[in-house]
Amino acid sequence: MLSLIKSVLVLTVALSVCADFWTDRDKFIKDEESQMLGSSINLTDKEKKVNQILMKFKYNEFDDGFLNPGSFAPSQHFFQARPLIQKSDVYKLLQKIPKGAALHGHDIALVSSEYLYKQTYRNSLYACRINGQLRMRFLQSSQQDKQCNWTLLNVLRILDPSYDSYLRSQINLYTENPKQKYKNINDVWNAFQNIFFTIMGLVTYKPVFEDYFYQSLKELYDDNVMYLEFRGTLPLLYDLNGTEYTPIQTVAVYKEVIEKFKTEYPRFKGARFIYAPLKDDNNSTMYKYVEILKDLKVNFPDLLAGFDLVGQEDTRKPINAYLDQIKQVSAMGIDFFFHAGETNWYDTSSDFNLVDAILLGTKRIGHAYAVTKHPLVVEIVKERQIAIEVCPISNQVLLLVSDMRNHPAATLIANGFPIVISYDDPTLWNGKALSYDFYMAFMGIAGKEADLRLIKQLALNSLLFSSLPADQKQVLISDWETDWTSFVDNVLATYANEIP
Ligand SMILES: *[C@@H]1O[C@H](CO)[C@@H](O)[C@H](O)[C@H]1NC(C)=O
Ligand SMILES: *[C@@H]1O[C@H](CO)[C@@H](O)[C@H](O)[C@H]1NC(C)=O
Ligand SMILES: *[C@@H]1O[C@H](CO)[C@@H](O)[C@H](O)[C@H]1NC(C)=O
Ligand SMILES: *[C@@H]1O[C@H](CO)[C@@H](O)[C@H](O)[C@H]1NC(C)=O
Ligand SMILES: *[C@@H]1O[C@H](CO)[C@@H](O)[C@H](O)[C@H]1NC(C)=O
Ligand SMILES: [Zn+2]
Repeated sequence: MLSLIKSVLVLTVALSVCADFWTDRDKFIKDEESQMLGSSINLTDKEKKVNQILMKFKYNEFDDGFLNPGSFAPSQHFFQARPLIQKSDVYKLLQKIPKGAALHGHDIALVSSEYLYKQTYRNSLYACRINGQLRMRFLQSSQQDKQCNWTLLNVLRILDPSYDSYLRSQINLYTENPKQKYKNINDVWNAFQNIFFTIMGLVTYKPVFEDYFYQSLKELYDDNVMYLEFRGTLPLLYDLNGTEYTPIQTVAVYKEVIEKFKTEYPRFKGARFIYAPLKDDNNSTMYKYVEILKDLKVNFPDLLAGFDLVGQEDTRKPINAYLDQIKQVSAMGIDFFFHAGETNWYDTSSDFNLVDAILLGTKRIGHAYAVTKHPLVVEIVKERQIAIEVCPISNQVLLLVSDMRNHPAATLIANGFPIVISYDDPTLWNGKALSYDFYMAFMGIAGKEADLRLIKQLALNSLLFSSLPADQKQVLISDWETDWTSFVDNVLATYANEIP
């Protein structure tokens, strides 16, 4: 009898310990979850249904990956993952979601690779090689420029059946086996920079440039992204007769194309420009950039959003090598949107670009891949709400991270940091608009339980952290809310049979 009482007692105690354990555990996880980006959003009843559909798709793919890690797209290189993503129900739904704005992309790498490739079929496009490197240029005749042995590209195609695959390999980083071709970060950056040289003459032909930029906006629009802030080096445009234009005229083209696009697609809210020339480790060039900025500020005060500097951080001088010029820019009242900390080298000049960017008052930070290693930077980023522009696929292709589950933005998401998702240079790796990067962020970087609230917050962030003045931002947000409401209704109508 005593032993029975004893064992009942033991059982009860054990049960109550267990009950406490599971209650505590539940509370623990909920508390942690309440710090996650998006957790302050309360979904409406309709949104909850959309969320159920989204999460049904997510769990299917996620659980399948958990059981068969080889099938999980975000753990693979984008070149391998892309065909898997295209088949994903999550991806298809993400494409429909009004994602707000793209806040980090570069002038001549915004469009899809296929569109760029198609431009190489245009008439009057010539090609040649300088030091083994492919160049392209539109000319009236091969004699117009004697610096190179120019041959019509369409003739080269006929002469050599393998020419097209060579051409593709020169304008895209894609390769079947990226780990073999790009052994380290400098390898891939060299290839990356060479592609820019190769496509420069193709893209800067004024008629191509206009179509190209128009198409960049169209692809965002089709991906339900309604506003763009892009960085550009202001390459000089040219015409067939050899006329070269000025940097100011390049911006004039941007402005015309944006206006034309907005007229044709009134739901699109436009684009702003961040002047982001190449760091070439030369003080006098940087003073020239300052002069260009002065011109831009006078001629395009609304289009100009700010200033930044580009180029591989590890191999170039840090932003603090241009303090004098940067002070001049600041004195003009121009905002900074610095790339910083796009590196794996801890406590180096590239890594400390993060500190410099903060001290110089940057409004957002491009990549900030190394930010979680800097507790004070992290604190200030949160306090001052300096948005971090996370470009997952770029970070993977440029060899900072191989498996998205190891991306440091997971920590930023878990702690509710102000981040946005963007695409950097999709032309160079067969990307297209924002949905692939959203997929990687949602499936690979964020946790299994991150849901529609995270996506909604990321979309909202892209508008909140845009450079627009407050009144225009408000218009953007309220129009986005309208789009969001119709998205919710559309999904409920289209996927009615998927509601669990
Ligand atoms: C969401 O709901 C919670 C609990 O009902 C409430 O405390 C909170 O203020 C709501 N948040 C928003 C943004 O409406
Ligand atoms: C110029 O290029 C064409 C096409 O590749 C080639 O057939 C020709 O031999 C080249 N000429 C010279 C002088 O290099
Ligand atoms: C060159 O071509 C452009 C575009 O067709 C034209 O506007 C310009 O007047 C031409 N310039 C000369 C010098 O022929
Ligand atoms: C520019 O000049 C300053 C002052 O002499 C120097 O500290 C800095 O390193 C130079 N920057 C570059 C990019 O050479
Ligand atoms: C810096 O650039 C200018 C042209 O902008 C060039 O004349 C000069 O030689 C360059 N200086 C160095 C140190 O490369
Ligand atoms: Zn970038």
